[in-house]
Amino acid sequence: MILSNMEIKVSPSILSADFGRLNEEIASVEPYSDTIHVDVMDGHFVPNITLGAPVVKCLKSSLPLDVHLMIENPEKYVEDFVKAGCDRVIVHYEACKDLRGVLEQIKALGAKPGVAIKPMTPVSAIIDDLDLIDLVLVMTVEPGFGGQAFMADQVHKITELREAGFEGDIGVDGGINGETAKICIEAGANVLGAGSYVFGAKDRKAALDSLRG
Ligand code: DX5
Ligand code: ZN
Repeated sequence: MILSNMEIKVSPSILSADFGRLNEEIASVEPYSDTIHVDVMDGHFVPNITLGAPVVKCLKSSLPLDVHLMIENPEKYVEDFVKAGCDRVIVHYEACKDLRGVLEQIKALGAKPGVAIKPMTPVSAIIDDLDLIDLVLVMTVEPGFGGQAFMADQVHKITELREAGFEGDIGVDGGINGETAKICIEAGANVLGAGSYVFGAKDRKAALDSLRG
């Protein structure tokens, strides 16, 4: 199912960028992108550690920042990330003791709330909370690392969300390239996150353009 009125947005994930030159890396993709995807990992919720709010505060971009919090107890940190300039804060369903409470907290801080679901989490887990959610991020890999293979068995979740009447953004994250993006768009996704495919490409503009389907 394609929602023909939905604009397709591409969101490069800076996880695969050169962390020593983050603002130059952002500048290289900004003209061809819609949002910038920032992966925050705490070494507990996922086995990897990346960056925190002080680094996000130093990022320079004219595009909205989507921060993907792969951290435990996200309610303790969302305020820091909003203050650091994040426009949308995406928490993991699996990391929240009170998902609705965290979503309300993000909204009250003036940011847009998003929820990511890991491959083992069904759509039914968040179905009652869709009214509060600006973006559902369907993980198409196990979170924690860039460069993993796309899990095609997650695509049905996109279809389920649209069939449930969800009209917000549906993002996909993990193993997205020109081919897998098409599959996700066809199912109803409209925000394409991609790290290694974009930052590993010789021609980043061409890679980003190819994600639009
Ligand atoms: C993985 C991150 C992704 C990551 C995707 O846990 O959430 O955003 O950057 O990397 P690729 O696009 O290389 O699979
Ligand atoms: Zn991510």
